[in-house]
Amino acid sequence: MYHSRTSGKVQFIILRDGTGLCQCVVEKGSVSDELFEKLRHLGQESSLYITGTVRADQRSVGGYELAVTNAEIIHSTNDYPITPKSHGVDFLLRHRHLHLRSSRQWCISKIRHTVIDAIRRFFNDNGFTLVDTPILMAAAGEEEQTLFEVDYFGTPLYLTQTGQLHLECAAAAFGRVYCFGPTFRAEKSKTRRHLTEFWMVEPEVAFINLDGLLELAENFVSYIIERVLKDNSPELETLGADIPALQKIKPPFYRLTYTQAVEILTGDKTAKFLAEQLTQFQQQKQTIEKRIAELEAEQAGQIKQWKRDKNAAELIELRSTLDELSTKIENNPKHAQLAAEFNWGKDLGGSDETIISQMHDKPIFVTHYPKQAKAFYMKTDRSNDKVVLNFDMLAPNGFGEIIGGSVREDDYDMLAKRIEEKGLKRENYDWYLDLRKYGSVPHGGFGLGVERTVAWLTAEPHIRQCIAFPRMMDKVYI
Ligand code: 4AD
Ligand code: MG
Repeated sequence: MYHSRTSGKVQFIILRDGTGLCQCVVEKGSVSDELFEKLRHLGQESSLYITGTVRADQRSVGGYELAVTNAEIIHSTNDYPITPKSHGVDFLLRHRHLHLRSSRQWCISKIRHTVIDAIRRFFNDNGFTLVDTPILMAAAGEEEQTLFEVDYFGTPLYLTQTGQLHLECAAAAFGRVYCFGPTFRAEKSKTRRHLTEFWMVEPEVAFINLDGLLELAENFVSYIIERVLKDNSPELETLGADIPALQKIKPPFYRLTYTQAVEILTGDKTAKFLAEQLTQFQQQKQTIEKRIAELEAEQAGQIKQWKRDKNAAELIELRSTLDELSTKIENNPKHAQLAAEFNWGKDLGGSDETIISQMHDKPIFVTHYPKQAKAFYMKTDRSNDKVVLNFDMLAPNGFGEIIGGSVREDDYDMLAKRIEEKGLKRENYDWYLDLRKYGSVPHGGFGLGVERTVAWLTAEPHIRQCIAFPRMMDKVYI
């Protein structure tokens, strides 16, 4: 029982059966008086079997309701800790084992399910072979600082940061391959975009160049969106996602080189854009502060209990929005300064990505990053050896990076040199170098983060809401 209310001789029970919600109407007289009374006192999240006649009703959730003729209580419960809409984030994270049943989390999980199904379907239907890569690794695949060490019978091993290097072996065998699994990074950043355990899908393709990769990535992401729009529009609506904006997302996506991105960041248009944004944030803040003051005044007076509860719930929401706005107001000038002073050569930071992403309505590819800022395996551009043949895909409207990928260095000597320059132990990568020794071919691939993608599609500001049991740097709740 998701929710219930009584008005005299009729009870409305909203039942959740796993497929969705259904309004069940219990009229006095249509069931025994004894059952009517029992149902009236049933607490939220009690479980029951319910029997009745289905009838179409426009006003009901899902367009149907059930005229109840009988019910059997399986488990009666009281004091369910999560009541509609009146808890802080921390409380809900500590109660995630129950919060999964709430409407927002429920809708997000359903959409995540579609995203994962679409990912598998896309690759399976396009000639890719699934190859499962290991979770315990002997050496780093990405930045060594983010490795999680595991004691493996006395020898250190690491939780995987990417399946890419093993996947490259498989690409030489099968041509088009993908892996899909949990990924671990000891990220020392408590941002809305970082988890320490997240799910990543990685395709790898033999005989592909950068243009081919971009085309694959935009078709892939468009397909995921198409599927979510088709299968989950009620969930998107409940979540308040921007459906028309998603409908617009079709290839081709925007293409910028890193150098062009730097020009945008340091340009006047961006400075103006950020200044206007600051004014908007300040106006929003004033409006919210005014509403909070109104509600606080009401709470101080004599009001009905239901009104008091309703106000309390609204106050929690408003205070959390106010916190977010204050952070944005505080950060705006810092981010503006970082952007204005951006020097060619650095990796784009989270705030830089946000700015570029806010200025576009479709995903943006940023390509050709400086070699010094990027991983050892990325192929050096033969026409400009300062940059690599890589790309990030930034989701629009401020969401930021959802994909990172590149063409791989396929020349033995160049790769060996990059491994050395990065200070990595050569003996750990002998097998990886072998791929460049025996029939090396141009190849490349990318990785898409599932939680970030779901956050973007569902307009959920924090990716911790996009996995059932999140693992974050500062806290693992349950
Ligand atoms: O850009 P990244 O680090 O790329 C790689 O790992 C490559 N080896 C992939 C490849 O070419 N096969 O990570 C890829 C994506 C990011 O764009 C982001 O969506 C996600 O993985 N990601 C994270 N998601 C949540 N929390 C984190 N800490 C993440 N780090 C990366
Ligand atoms: Mg990246």
